[in-house]
Amino acid sequence: MVHKCWAGSNMSLCGSHPEIKTWHLRAAFQLNLSAEISRPAASDVPLTLKGGFTCQAASTVGWCQAMQKAASLWDSVGSTPLIRIRSLSELSGCEVYGKAEYLNPGGSVKDRAARGIIAAAEQAGHLGPGAVIVEGTAGNTGIGLATLAMERGYKVIVSMPNNQAAEKYSLLTAIGADVRQFAPCPFKDPNHFYHQAKKIAAETPQAYWADQFENVANAEAHYQTTAPEIFQQLDSRLDAFVSAVGTGGTFGGISAWLKEQVKSIQTIVADPDGSGVYSFIKDGEFKGPGSSITEGIGIMRQTANFARGQADDALKISDQQMINMLFHVARKDGLFVGTSSAINLYGAWQWAMRPENKDSGKRVVTILCDHGSRYTSKLLNPEWLRERELEPAALV
Ligand SMILES: Cc1ncc(COP(=O)(O)O)c(C=O)c1O
Repeated sequence: MVHKCWAGSNMSLCGSHPEIKTWHLRAAFQLNLSAEISRPAASDVPLTLKGGFTCQAASTVGWCQAMQKAASLWDSVGSTPLIRIRSLSELSGCEVYGKAEYLNPGGSVKDRAARGIIAAAEQAGHLGPGAVIVEGTAGNTGIGLATLAMERGYKVIVSMPNNQAAEKYSLLTAIGADVRQFAPCPFKDPNHFYHQAKKIAAETPQAYWADQFENVANAEAHYQTTAPEIFQQLDSRLDAFVSAVGTGGTFGGISAWLKEQVKSIQTIVADPDGSGVYSFIKDGEFKGPGSSITEGIGIMRQTANFARGQADDALKISDQQMINMLFHVARKDGLFVGTSSAINLYGAWQWAMRPENKDSGKRVVTILCDHGSRYTSKLLNPEWLRERELEPAALV
């Protein structure tokens, strides 16, 4: 029996086999392949998919995921699974989904921005052989840049605040980045890691400053890849998108694309304490009292990448709520994510628990930005948590 399956379609099996319900073609959308699937008679025999993919049937009743051979780390960015979070879906009566961006080659959502920024810089002729990419980062963009730059022959220098999880510095060093650390300070201070990156780039021969905050290749990467993937993975049916904002690339690119496709979608920022995005969306002014242990998210100014998006609403989420969610999904779902992902999940869950949404079966999507293993020195250190008066408590 031969089934035909078109990349770019909703990936439903275009045939009538009674047992296999859904086909998920990893990366097929991006590669825009048209492929033909031949199904052998025995139901548990691997399927052959002409056009560069092999397709392995896990069982006769399950779903099947085409395995992609990536020519490079570069080609392995994106096409991440969209995971239904069982416990939150059951508690809320909505369908709560997380886009598993921690499965990117550098382990975070920022690999997409890194690839977009490098591609745009190459296209503009900014990156010649032996070029040095310089970036100010909380860590993940630096990891993404280093992950992708090395195989293209570029060096990477990152400037970072010195209070991020130890795992990020070790990882950056392991993959060959030159890490410069700076004491955290307000954005207007010239010692802020952002301004230091610009300065290092100006002083380094053959350097290119990636400037993830204002370089709109960042949001464009999400507009071009992350949002269409989500749309396709949910067969174009979704009701809300929730995300925190660091540079605004993820929220900006995804919300802009989804708003164009699904007019009714609600786009919501999940904001930690100490960040001004919540008050900006509510009252038009960046104000953010307090502070947060979350990493990579929260801003006190408008950026070009965030400006691309459209936010209908915002939620303010405390570290205590974030920690409750982080350990809830770890223990109930086996999903151990980083702090920004826990903020995102809390925001998605809050949206799902609103009276107008609860038990409606509506679909809310958020981003699982990176994995909790990047933060074990903090998150799995009870003393570190206790010092910050954070103790995991029940979500409900
Ligand atoms: C862990 C983590 N989550 C979320 C974000 C925010 O993503 P964006 O910069 O696209 O707003 C970042 C950004 O660095 C991050 O490192």
